[in-house]
Amino acid sequence: MTAKDLESLKEWFSAYTKSFYSSSKEDQKNILLKVEHTRNVCENIFRIADDVARGADEKRLAEAAALFHDVGRFPQYARYRTFRDAVSTNHGHLGAKVLADEGALSGLPADEREMIIRTVRFHNAFAIPDTVDERTAFLLKMVRDADKLDIFRVFIEYYESPEEDRASAVAYGLPDTPEYSRGILSCLSEGKIASYVNLKTENDFKLMKLSWIYGMNFDISLRMLRERGYIGRTADKLPQTPEILSAVRRLEEYISGRLKNGR
Ligand SMILES: [Fe+2]
Repeated sequence: MTAKDLESLKEWFSAYTKSFYSSSKEDQKNILLKVEHTRNVCENIFRIADDVARGADEKRLAEAAALFHDVGRFPQYARYRTFRDAVSTNHGHLGAKVLADEGALSGLPADEREMIIRTVRFHNAFAIPDTVDERTAFLLKMVRDADKLDIFRVFIEYYESPEEDRASAVAYGLPDTPEYSRGILSCLSEGKIASYVNLKTENDFKLMKLSWIYGMNFDISLRMLRERGYIGRTADKLPQTPEILSAVRRLEEYISGRLKNGR
């Protein structure tokens, strides 16, 4: 992929997303949330790829995959007015279909086209399927880290902003009560990744997000996470019980350990 190819992909993306702009204030806020998320995931991947990618070509490929990773969010919202896959559709699969149906990648060599489509399809899977080839898996690792990093920004900004400014579709629609679930906390305290299944409260949601850090692929991503204070800024929105504090401490120790060993 040449630098010029990447430029035209950016133009395509911008025109495609603009076609979903809405005169409803609420819908427009939700659409812009995803445009801004995409911009940030692209910036994140730029830094990640700078550290781990093998050459300029792979860097551009990573940026293109980041650009399109959430392309399915736009038709998903237009059709269902939600970003919750569980009650609508898998936005990774939808995004892969959009790219294929619209011929968005038709100017690229077939192998790059396939890699981008597969990355979009699986960017949100619980784990990277072992059926994907090594190059796609590497691309997926970069996109998943860049995406997770920005998901922290989105949620932290949501919780830290006045209610009237919040984009409605960020919230998962769970009750914001002081409770949290044993099972989700155990995942975090045992270094396991929690899934969306069995979330009961907003606190469960925050604990689940923190547990995702155990699945981060690259040291550079952990460094970026730490630089931005995302763990502390998520943890301070949770009940400060001894068991939560100790699970968060364990997570911080895990990161320090990994960065010290330069894994
Ligand atoms: Fe996504």
